[in-house]
Amino acid sequence: MKSNNLAIGIFDSGVGGTSIWSEIRTLLPNENTIYLSDSKNAPYGEKSKQEIIDLSVKNTNFLLNQNCKLIVIACNTATTNAIKILRENYKVPIVGIEPAIRPAALKTKTNIIGILATKGTLNSELFEITSSVIRQTITIKETVGTGLVELIESGDINSLKIKNLLTSYIEPMLEEHVDCLVLGCTHYPYLMPIIREIVGDKIQIIDSGEAVARQTKAILDKYQLFNTETKGGTSQFYINKNKSVLEMLLPKNNDFISIDETNF
Ligand code: SIN
Repeated sequence: MKSNNLAIGIFDSGVGGTSIWSEIRTLLPNENTIYLSDSKNAPYGEKSKQEIIDLSVKNTNFLLNQNCKLIVIACNTATTNAIKILRENYKVPIVGIEPAIRPAALKTKTNIIGILATKGTLNSELFEITSSVIRQTITIKETVGTGLVELIESGDINSLKIKNLLTSYIEPMLEEHVDCLVLGCTHYPYLMPIIREIVGDKIQIIDSGEAVARQTKAILDKYQLFNTETKGGTSQFYINKNKSVLEMLLPKNNDFISIDETNF
């Protein structure tokens, strides 16, 4: 197969990165994609930096064994903790995802923005570097979304339990006059309807999905890696736990493949 026609490899700690896959699919419909959901090891957000690096290396190797031409890290926690090491160790182009605090800083009127993300993302050096520039003019209210990823991984995206948890995280930020809320975890866009109910229509909710898709397109362009076939790309989804959650979130006509948990 011509290298242009190889797949874009996308990985996440679980099913959340499919929110990024959807954006990539929409922007680049002719590209083949292979998605890896490391649900057995989710959440990454509570793990040490070294554990996150080791899992990210394992996921990248899996996708490179499938001959992927480009890797997208569809996980904020893995990007903020491991992208530097991955870029140093692999030749393949690697696209990552960081919380969209820069766009939020441009949009806020109160100069106070909120971010909901994992502990691993908010404690990372990369987040510290990016946010320290913005903090010179903007106040950032950080909240760790403890428990949200676990619920989404179990297929719960619309229960009273998840609404109460979200309310307990978001209301204190609203009381602090946050007017832009950054979703700093790729799982959270699946909670958008409930988040919108909690914040009403005066708060802007910002995630990085579209930006990652645009960046993926720019990198394919830079390395002249666009798929030359125009018949529409294929999508394969590998998962090492609970395939039914992927099947619930995504269109049925996709190819869902279970990986043996004991070997991965
Ligand atoms: C997690 O696995 O804890 C969340 C993934 C993310 O940060 O996007």
